[in-house]
Amino acid sequence: MRYLPITRNDVKEMVKLWNQEIGDDFPMREELLIQNSFLDPNVRSEGSLLAMDDQGCLIGFVIAKKYSEPLDVGMNRSIGWIQVLLVRRDQRNQGIGTVLLNRAEKALTQEGASKIFLGKDVWHYFPGIPDGYESVKKWFVSRNYHYDGTEYDLLTETVVDKLPEPDDGARFSLVHGKEDERLLLAFLHRNFPGRWEYEAIKYFERGGDGQEFVILKKNGKVIGFCRINGPFSPQIAQNVYWSPLFSDGQLGGMGPLGIDATERGNGYGSDLVRAGIACLNGRGLKRIVIDWTRLIEFYRKVGARPWKAYATYSKQLNEPLGNVQLP
Ligand SMILES: CC(C)(COP(=O)(O)OP(=O)(O)OC[C@H]1O[C@@H](n2cnc3c(N)ncnc32)[C@H](O)[C@@H]1OP(=O)(O)O)[C@@H](O)C(=O)NCCC(=O)NCCS
Repeated sequence: MRYLPITRNDVKEMVKLWNQEIGDDFPMREELLIQNSFLDPNVRSEGSLLAMDDQGCLIGFVIAKKYSEPLDVGMNRSIGWIQVLLVRRDQRNQGIGTVLLNRAEKALTQEGASKIFLGKDVWHYFPGIPDGYESVKKWFVSRNYHYDGTEYDLLTETVVDKLPEPDDGARFSLVHGKEDERLLLAFLHRNFPGRWEYEAIKYFERGGDGQEFVILKKNGKVIGFCRINGPFSPQIAQNVYWSPLFSDGQLGGMGPLGIDATERGNGYGSDLVRAGIACLNGRGLKRIVIDWTRLIEFYRKVGARPWKAYATYSKQLNEPLGNVQLP
């Protein structure tokens, strides 16, 4: 077995292997793999490798990431991520996955990571190990990864005819123009520094025009936001990755979303969710995924039900074995 760096020439074979192994649940496409595993500057090439047999056949791969951008938005630079680790089914139990994981962990450690998450990376595929992949969970637990709880992707087909209009004059709209963009980014910086702010900055940097953001304004100030995604969006966003699972390919996505901490508990959050749905419905999307959440009861009010579940795992580096917990 040879362990080689990943190059753009490998995309087709990686997509083929991915779809052979997990494509029934998580159908991969070339543009998504390129967007999330090649164009993200946080991919660490030392920790991202292919396993190739002597005939030159792709047997597996691992992709490791660590936040490495100069942009300082409060992202934790001591976290490393294993974005994906995949070994061809008929080649498992021969130590190939262990070599790939060890190499990724070593590279992340050398870059200063003190903790590793499975998934949850920026431009991630998964927030954890999908439910149903029980042997994968056991495999990581035996390598000292700890279960940290379950996250859900929810699905709703609720229809909302028009934007809610709160009694106090607060109003929902899409982000129109530079001033709204500035207000949104300032709101995110105040309320949700870190990943959500980072993703919004990247969205505008990569040519987004604001149509993917619903904002709630009160007295000229943004007090809430909701990202909405669909086939129309300039990037393939996390909540519509798996749209090929639906025969018509039509899927809307909602989230992240949030309300200013000082304005919570007044009904704005529920209205915001309905506003997001109304905007997506208005663009012809009736089926909507809300990804990576534990707020099942909150979203149940708009008829959202669990669609996919992921067990989340992390590993403290240089930690002794023992004290592991299975979900
Ligand atoms: C979740 C959030 C948007 C709710 O906003 P809000 O304005 O406080 O929500 P509302 O006032 O409309 O609350 C509506 C209902 O949801 C419930 N609810 C609110 N936050 C909740 C939470 N974190 N967990 C469970 N239920 C929640 C409320 O109890 C209320 O229930 P009720 O109608 O039975 O009284 C807000 O708490 C927030 O911004 N949180 C931080 C960001 C976040 O977690 N976003 C969701 C990511 S998936």
